[in-house]
Amino acid sequence: MNGGGKEMDPKIKILGFAGSLRKQSYNRAILAAALEMVPDVASLEIFDLEGIPPFNQDLELQPPDRVKEFKTRIRAADAILIATPEYNYSIPGVLKNAIDWASRPYGDNAFDGKPVAITGASVGMLGTARAQYDLRRSFVFLNMLPLNRPEVMVPLAQDKVDSNGRLTDEKTRKKIGELLESLIVWTEKLKGKKG
Ligand SMILES: Cc1cc2nc3c(=O)[nH]c(=O)nc-3n(C[C@H](O)[C@H](O)[C@H](O)COP(=O)(O)O)c2cc1C
Repeated sequence: MNGGGKEMDPKIKILGFAGSLRKQSYNRAILAAALEMVPDVASLEIFDLEGIPPFNQDLELQPPDRVKEFKTRIRAADAILIATPEYNYSIPGVLKNAIDWASRPYGDNAFDGKPVAITGASVGMLGTARAQYDLRRSFVFLNMLPLNRPEVMVPLAQDKVDSNGRLTDEKTRKKIGELLESLIVWTEKLKGKKG
């Protein structure tokens, strides 16, 4: 019976962010495609890392408002979806910087215990594989719970996203759909175990 109070939202809440600030970013395009295909049992919100300043440990006890907002949005989410480029065989500074902010101060890590899925698009042949494995290494100390499979690496992204920023490659769209489905199953499984 509804006692007039606000109903709990039963949907799995996913927060997505891209490790690129570029307007025409292929990784942003992947998240835009994910928004179009998120299953009914879940919701997806995208957070833009624009406006997060360089990390300074002197400020970690009084973080900038944009960082506070980021941490609040992470905490409100049941699961995280990251779409990252690969820069110089690793994670872009913008992404690492945002993760560092959200993990601090010590003992106040917003990512603690969160299920997370990764994807990534690059113009190279390996589709961010090296960056994704570096990111997985950080998940160990962050105590995040990464989805192992599917691994969704998107090589040659310039051939898969059109000039309007739409992911047009059907195979890649299908993989992004599978990644979302698997993240939802993984999150539900972990929630059930908590009970
Ligand atoms: C500083 C820098 C380093 C890069 N290093 C790599 C790399 O190691 N591997 C790769 O596949 N692409 C690399 N690229 C090319 C990126 O794949 C390409 O810029 C891509 O568009 C970035 O993702 P975005 O479209 O989401 O911004 C690099 C680009 C920049 C700007």
